[in-house]
Amino acid sequence: MNPERRETREFGTGASFTIRTYGCQMNVHDSEKIANLLQHAGMRAAETPEDADLLVINTCSIRDKAEHQLYSDLGRLRLWKDDRPGRVLGVGGCVAQQVGDGLLKRFGHLDFVFGTHNLRLVPAMAAAARAGERLAHTEESRSLERFDLPDRHPAYRDAEQRPLGAAGVPGGSTPGRAFLTVMEGCDMFCSFCIVPQTRGREISRPADAIVAEARALAEHGVVELTLLGQTVNAYGRHDLRRQRGDAPGTVAFSELLRRLDAIPGIERLRYMSPHPLFFDAGLVRAHAELESLCPHVHLPLQSGSDRILERMRRRYTRAQYLDIARALRATRPDLVITTDLIVGFPGESAADFADTLAVMREVGFVDAYSFKYSPRPGTAAAALSPPVPAEEAQSRLVELQSLQRGLTIAYHRSRVGRGTRILVEGESRRGTEQLRGRDPYHRVVNVSRGPDGAPPPGALLGVEIVEATPHSLIGI
Ligand code: 5AD
Ligand code: SF4
Repeated sequence: MNPERRETREFGTGASFTIRTYGCQMNVHDSEKIANLLQHAGMRAAETPEDADLLVINTCSIRDKAEHQLYSDLGRLRLWKDDRPGRVLGVGGCVAQQVGDGLLKRFGHLDFVFGTHNLRLVPAMAAAARAGERLAHTEESRSLERFDLPDRHPAYRDAEQRPLGAAGVPGGSTPGRAFLTVMEGCDMFCSFCIVPQTRGREISRPADAIVAEARALAEHGVVELTLLGQTVNAYGRHDLRRQRGDAPGTVAFSELLRRLDAIPGIERLRYMSPHPLFFDAGLVRAHAELESLCPHVHLPLQSGSDRILERMRRRYTRAQYLDIARALRATRPDLVITTDLIVGFPGESAADFADTLAVMREVGFVDAYSFKYSPRPGTAAAALSPPVPAEEAQSRLVELQSLQRGLTIAYHRSRVGRGTRILVEGESRRGTEQLRGRDPYHRVVNVSRGPDGAPPPGALLGVEIVEATPHSLIGI
């Protein structure tokens, strides 16, 4: 079938959907885009899966754990599907992109599968599935059309006014804060990583389209923008290098930041995740010059050993990484650096691992996402040896995380007695007596609700830090 042609056929106005999301911010934002498309097609967000007519799982395949989660989820959802006739089950995201209609063959109760470039087809595919078809669309698109999505639906904004995590708000987005895709795909092919296969080739949106989307978000009360891309600071690099006459309107990443910084109402700019290779002088300078650019950079290191970095095909050395960290700190001494680390990469010796710990101490990472290497079929590293024994990888992970805990708490302690401003997200996880928000450094700050009521989610609130805990700060 041609799903584009079915856009007018409705699933049933008022039918309800729910989306389950695994993985990174890009996936969270894709789920937001899917929710928005379904709302434009007349559907509404369900309060719970039990209420839903359509359930979509947005999947992740970065490590085998995430992938296995999908398979056990799908097994359990057989009951959900059988519970009410007419229910529809769809799977998208990185596993869908890789496995495609193999998922339909393996799971008889699954109705449709869509790839990472086919979000726009979801309403039509759901409608076709409701009419009895089983279908998969995982074609890769090299065109910018994939970014032509409708503006935020009013129901979407209404949902944002509800408390954090309420139905219809897919996780990452809170009032006052929004994700904005600037580029997608990855051409880096790090040897451990499946993303270049699941997200396809790098493509960057024209700067004007990004600025227009940012303006529309600011007009609707968004004060904090997080720019997203698999290698976000590689934005526009292919277009700029080719210097094509028909270049699709991209500019240097630092220039894009400059344009976004100038938009009235945008108080905070962040970007996720940059690659060290594309940290040029302009981007470092942007951190010194742009008022809205947050003093926090999430800069994946992966390993502190040059030998392992080379085997990972990361294309930088430990010294180059340290130079970037130093240059960033020189722009602002308070700048916070967080990172991603992998332990147990094939061939990682005790000395290589010690190099990683040494770089962690030297940079003073304020936080780190750390993982045991997980071989991904079809990646270059899958053929590398020798593997690090599982128990050894586990004990390295424990050691690394214990070092990180110490670095995090030391940083948190250094903040006690100082003032900051938080963007209120909603109720604290510690209870209804407290509010939770994030400061410019992306640290979670919990604050007691004042006697005269709480500022609403999305508000910026000045606070003083009075206590440090291992995972958050406490302010008044
Ligand atoms: N095994 C373990 N961790 C991985 N990552 C990516 N691929 C793998 C893998 N095969 C980690 C990297 C990356 C983060 C998003 O996930 O640290 O930065
Ligand atoms: Fe994966 Fe490397 Fe691309 Fe990041 S830069 S998405 S780790 S291949």
